[in-house]
Amino acid sequence: TVRDGTRVFDLVTQTGRTRIVDAGVADTWGVNGALLGPTLRARRGERVAVNLRNDLPETTTLHWHGMHLPAVADGGPHQAVEPGRTWSPSWTIAQPAATLWYHPHPHGQTERHVYRGLGGLFILDDDEESALALPRDYGIDDIPVIVQDKTFDDAGQLVETDRVDNGMLGDTILVNGTAAPVFQAAATHTRLRLLNASTARSYAFGVSDGRSLELIATDGGLLPAPVTIERILLTPGERAEVILQLEAGESVTLRSYPQEMGLSDSRARSTGAADELDILLVRAVADLRTSPALPRVLANAPDLHTHRVAATRSFELRSDRINGESMDMARIDDVITVDTTEIWEVRNAHGQPHNFHVHDTQFQVVSIGGESPPPELSGWKDTIYLPPDVDIRIALRFTDYTDPAVPYMYHCHLLWHEDKGMMGQFVVV
Ligand code: C2O
Ligand code: CU
Ligand code: CU
Repeated sequence: TVRDGTRVFDLVTQTGRTRIVDAGVADTWGVNGALLGPTLRARRGERVAVNLRNDLPETTTLHWHGMHLPAVADGGPHQAVEPGRTWSPSWTIAQPAATLWYHPHPHGQTERHVYRGLGGLFILDDDEESALALPRDYGIDDIPVIVQDKTFDDAGQLVETDRVDNGMLGDTILVNGTAAPVFQAAATHTRLRLLNASTARSYAFGVSDGRSLELIATDGGLLPAPVTIERILLTPGERAEVILQLEAGESVTLRSYPQEMGLSDSRARSTGAADELDILLVRAVADLRTSPALPRVLANAPDLHTHRVAATRSFELRSDRINGESMDMARIDDVITVDTTEIWEVRNAHGQPHNFHVHDTQFQVVSIGGESPPPELSGWKDTIYLPPDVDIRIALRFTDYTDPAVPYMYHCHLLWHEDKGMMGQFVVV
């Protein structure tokens, strides 16, 4: 609803019961429902306000992953909402069209709360994206694909399995909370808004018959131009928008393939990187609508590398810590000057898979192992995979909002690692 020019989202985190697998009904958590939550949508320049009531028996939060906003509105561990309480942040959308998402972020409990089912997409629109000939008929040719892996027992209940290496790996793949999902495509181009909302598992998405996909957007919005790819790797928290092209009557499976993640063979097996998994069956109807040709130019490329660099920082991820420190709610790790450009050198210093996510901003990948990033990493990102022992340089700029008291977070988005302390806090002043 829109009240006085502000788009208002009334949200309730709640318990529920959902039959996800045939075996029975699971106790789940959701936002305004039993499992997952509504797709929120707002336009650049719009003022948004959220009223989040927590009807769960536990303290939780909702964090707007990828959103540029004041620290008090971020929904991280410092914005805890106790059972029965309501939290009401508001901010103005000031970033390009993108597929963002929201999920809980309570201190030390994020993995469990996401696994129980809390989360959803937050789609941003803007005039530039709206002017392009892209599929944008939500639910028809523009589809959310929230990918999660979970484990169920014989009664259909959700099971928390043992955590090894990167956390829990489920044996059942869900798309938008549905097992064995099927989508009926109505147009020759379908835009899939892929979100890896798993707690630990990474996916390398591709199509069963080997056809390529057109990658049009990553975490922070449209790429400069479509990139033709056979596989797109998404580690937990990352998003990608791809165009799947079909002809009438065809059916293909979106699948996750064994991934080249720079891991040892045994680590690849224990972390799921060696798995091949069916994600989504797509069947094209017989009278398929013909979509317009894809635009050849989509957006401006990030340009932070042309800015003067005000500071360089290094972050080393190892053994549940960043730079040797475990997350401490009372410690500020970094103080950043607003409206300056920084280079962060991030390194995964041991053999486990980790990624790196930064709140409040979208960054530009400057180099990976000293090389320029591949085209699929040439757009705005907020989360990036860190292969073991590879130096990754990103350029970032924190604008508009300062708050010396309330921090933002950076962390590994493998949620068990985050909960164990692989997270740090920064303020922008
Ligand atoms: Cu998606 Cu700090 O999180
Ligand atoms: Cu985030
Ligand atoms: Cu990690």
